Amino acid sequence: MQQLLTLFLRTLWLFGFAIVATAQVDYSQYVNPFIGAEGPFSGQGYGGGDIFVGGTRPFGVAKVGIDTTAANWSIAVLNGGWTPDGNVTAITMMHESGTGGAPKYGIIPQMPLTSISSPVNILDNLTYSQPRIGQDTASVGYFKTQLQNGVQIELSASRHAGIIRYSFHEGEKHVLVDVSHYLPGAPYDPNGQFYVGGEIQLEENGQSYSGYGTYIGGWNNGAPFTVYFYGEFSTAPEAARVFRGPNTDPMRSYQGLANGRPSFAVYNNSTDKETSGPMNDRVGAVFSWNIDTESIISSRVGISFISVEKARAYIGSEIPSWTLNDTVESAVKEWNEDVFSKIQVPLDERANFTHVRLLYSSLYFIHLMPSDRTGENPLWESDEPSWDDFYTLWDIFRCTVSFYHIFQPTYYESMIRGLIDIWRHQGFLPDGRSGNWNGLVQGGSNADNVLADAYVKGLRGSINWTDGYAAMKTNAERVPHNTYDPTDFTASTKEGRGALPDWLELGYVSQDRSTRCISRTVEYSLNDFALSQVAAGEMPEDRDTYLRRSAGWQKIWNPEIESLGFTGFLAPKFSNGEFNNSGYDPLYCYECEWHAYTYEGVPWEYSFVIPHDMETLIGLMTGPEAFEARLDLMFKPNTSVQQLGPNGAGITTLMNIGNEPDFATPYLYNYINKQYKSVQRSRDLAYQYFHDASNGLPGNSDAGAMNTWLLWQMLGIYPLVTTPVYLLASPWFPDLNMTVNGDKNLRIIAHGLDDGYFVQRVRINGVLWERNWFEQADVMESGGVIEFELGPEMKEWERGRVPPSLGHVEL
Ligand SMILES: *[C@@H]1O[C@H](CO)[C@@H](O)[C@H](O)[C@H]1NC(C)=O
Ligand SMILES: *[C@@H]1O[C@H](CO)[C@@H](O)[C@H](O)[C@H]1NC(C)=O
Ligand SMILES: *[C@@H]1O[C@H](CO)[C@@H](O)[C@H](O)[C@H]1NC(C)=O
Ligand SMILES: *[C@@H]1O[C@H](CO)[C@@H](O)[C@H](O)[C@H]1NC(C)=O
Ligand SMILES: *[C@@H]1O[C@H](CO)[C@@H](O)[C@H](O)[C@H]1NC(C)=O
Ligand SMILES: *[C@@H]1O[C@H](CO)[C@@H](O)[C@H](O)[C@H]1NC(C)=O
Ligand SMILES: *[C@@H]1O[C@H](CO)[C@@H](O)[C@H](O)[C@H]1NC(C)=O
Ligand SMILES: *[C@@H]1O[C@H](CO)[C@@H](O)[C@H](O)[C@H]1NC(C)=O
Ligand SMILES: *[C@@H]1O[C@H](CO)[C@@H](O)[C@H](O)[C@H]1NC(C)=O
Ligand SMILES: *[C@@H]1O[C@H](CO)[C@@H](O)[C@H](O)[C@H]1NC(C)=O
Ligand SMILES: *[C@@H]1O[C@H](CO)[C@@H](O)[C@H](O)[C@H]1NC(C)=O
Repeated sequence: MQQLLTLFLRTLWLFGFAIVATAQVDYSQYVNPFIGAEGPFSGQGYGGGDIFVGGTRPFGVAKVGIDTTAANWSIAVLNGGWTPDGNVTAITMMHESGTGGAPKYGIIPQMPLTSISSPVNILDNLTYSQPRIGQDTASVGYFKTQLQNGVQIELSASRHAGIIRYSFHEGEKHVLVDVSHYLPGAPYDPNGQFYVGGEIQLEENGQSYSGYGTYIGGWNNGAPFTVYFYGEFSTAPEAARVFRGPNTDPMRSYQGLANGRPSFAVYNNSTDKETSGPMNDRVGAVFSWNIDTESIISSRVGISFISVEKARAYIGSEIPSWTLNDTVESAVKEWNEDVFSKIQVPLDERANFTHVRLLYSSLYFIHLMPSDRTGENPLWESDEPSWDDFYTLWDIFRCTVSFYHIFQPTYYESMIRGLIDIWRHQGFLPDGRSGNWNGLVQGGSNADNVLADAYVKGLRGSINWTDGYAAMKTNAERVPHNTYDPTDFTASTKEGRGALPDWLELGYVSQDRSTRCISRTVEYSLNDFALSQVAAGEMPEDRDTYLRRSAGWQKIWNPEIESLGFTGFLAPKFSNGEFNNSGYDPLYCYECEWHAYTYEGVPWEYSFVIPHDMETLIGLMTGPEAFEARLDLMFKPNTSVQQLGPNGAGITTLMNIGNEPDFATPYLYNYINKQYKSVQRSRDLAYQYFHDASNGLPGNSDAGAMNTWLLWQMLGIYPLVTTPVYLLASPWFPDLNMTVNGDKNLRIIAHGLDDGYFVQRVRINGVLWERNWFEQADVMESGGVIEFELGPEMKEWERGRVPPSLGHVEL
């Protein structure tokens, strides 16, 4: 009996194991890590995704990849480190993905060299930077490149460490560790970053080394932050020497040595440690192997914001093996388990593998940022999780956080707690944050939207919502100190709402007292709606105040402005209550940056960005017919007259899918019950601008914001941020299962996909659905089934109420 039972159990176990084994699909094979690596001009990064390419984990701290030079500074985008055309200057441990502006990170380097003598000057990267031979190879958790000097580099990463495998030819073999290396901004870019100081110490005769580097600046004008490192080699070097040399990088007014030509390093043979800072010498070390034959030298490097000991410990706990493939395999496993396997689509003859690759690649790119720095906060003691690299919420509030909400609720709850903890200890929620420093604020205080979105969709867990609401209220009531940022001297760009004095006094942002008067009015309006949404539960007596304030945008609607046959636009208004009617043209934003009326988009576009009160907006546009005609014009080619630089490269419609403000615009036809047009417009954009190719993104990935737009498009739904409402569109897969809310299943079925993608009929959980929208509770909490019948007919299938305008206010 006992034996039989054992046999039975063993059979069960074997059987169970077999089932699990066959169910384990390696989805990582469908990820193209180069999507967005190039822009519309082949071979250049300009206008592309600015993505990171290299080894990393979901929301990992380490993003290990190459840094490169700029072929032409006026169109350079070094932000993600990797570029199609630059020469390799180093492999570094930390990167951003998808950002614009001046780069941040590109720090804690190694560079394999085959000569360190003249003309090579180890303090002058242009003397040793290496062109690459052939195409780089990348897959999830793995990157490979071949340098002109014959060295092949392969790498992978864990959450706080990296492993690099160098294959050297015969001859000299060196690895340079220049602690002063970082990704530079364009010359004279006031927001470039700099090296402040650091230390490097040889250990075990140079088989390992440790130290720290301190860096300042970058696009967010960050304060100095320090990263500790511990590195080690698989083979003991014959020689290891530390060096120092004057820092001649152009550092504005910081120090007298700046702006010179690169100087030369001095090796100090009587010490194994060099220290510098603040704001003086560069320090580093060179490791040399005298082995003549071809050889493989591997290195493992750990990083920490806390200490060398922690950096070292991460290697032991996360990369215990010297075999690169072990780390690659563990990365693939983690990505599959944590991310990819949570969405399943047919992978048989029903599959369009281009769509499959777009799906899993998009999932990959939305998990590169922010960084989970729990246990790695050097600034304050806290039991709360710690997160950094919200870079920026301006980008990801629109639809990325809503995706995290349903798809990664555990991480997301942790992020929200981390955001609130920043307010608790530093006074303000961030709008952007990187290197443990808030900044920059491009428009509103959009953490408000993030918190409200989480709140109205029921995220509670261990989030302290009393504090969460208090943090939002700080944004709404406290004027942040002016940071005198060279990009805009008028008010804080670091956090909060710089134009809050206007907003509190006038109810709008004025042209004469503030910059970005139109786009900030638009964003502050939604921010205050966000407050009203959370106040409803946390501070009911505040709700009406903020709801009224959320109508501020109506105060700058100028019914007299005419453009392309339409009248009534958001317009600049003086603080005395008069509109500026002279020479204003909503087709232009002029430089479209910090001093413009509208930021990175023209007033035509911003005049559609009122997600909380579409009802009033449609009224101001004089009704559904005029609204539809105006919306149609947004999609007409060759209409845009404003040059938007990399934020709209190659796009000639007013609708600019290459940047975030317009993300919801193609779906607005749902508000006039012409959902088929939303489907048509959004599909057209997706097909035209998103590809399984290096130039597959219409603009910066922006921490995955762009990729999330495509994800929602492929699911056939679009979230209305700060509300529990989702608009229905049209799905791309015949069948899709997605884990939502931790362990529930959302199934999205598309019958008739082969005949056309227009919606003929929808059922949700078996019930015929006559509205073109649904709410969180319908399928996102307990899971459920959305069943589309698709076909070729552009059908006005919906008859119910249009999507609600939950912030509707009549002034
Ligand atoms: C190369 O090194 C110089 C001198 O340190 C520095 O100013 C520059 O920013 C570096 N360039 C790149 C692309 O890393
Ligand atoms: C890369 O190096 C090659 C050879 O030294 C040089 O011709 C080329 O201009 C460099 N390109 C960049 C982008 O630095
Ligand atoms: C750099 O790019 C700018 C903008 O495209 C272009 O005008 C300029 O000619 C380029 N410079 C070089 C040296 O190629
Ligand atoms: C250190 O040793 C090297 C030779 O390995 C020599 O060229 C250099 O001058 C020495 N540095 C000092 C400061 O003595
Ligand atoms: C070399 O390092 C030793 C010990 O730190 C120091 O006393 C000496 O001044 C250094 N020499 C040079 C040339 O930097
Ligand atoms: C690593 O694994 C891949 C397959 O997963 C294999 O193709 C490759 O040769 C391996 N590399 C090494 C160095 O073992
Ligand atoms: C989705 O789940 C349902 C129910 O478990 C299953 O029948 C269907 O095959 C799944 N679809 C896919 C694409 O995995
Ligand atoms: C896959 O979909 C794309 C459109 O996204 C289409 O161009 C392509 O023809 C489809 N491939 C197949 C095999 O149907
Ligand atoms: C929320 O945090 C505040 C202090 O920041 C504390 O007083 C309060 O008890 C907390 N609420 C909960 C539910 O933990
Ligand atoms: C009104 O707007 C126009 C067009 O932007 C601008 O040139 C002009 O300076 C503004 N007038 C005032 C008084 O600011
Ligand atoms: C847009 O303008 C370009 C260049 O003038 C022209 O080639 C193209 O045909 C135009 N497209 C449309 C749809 O008018």
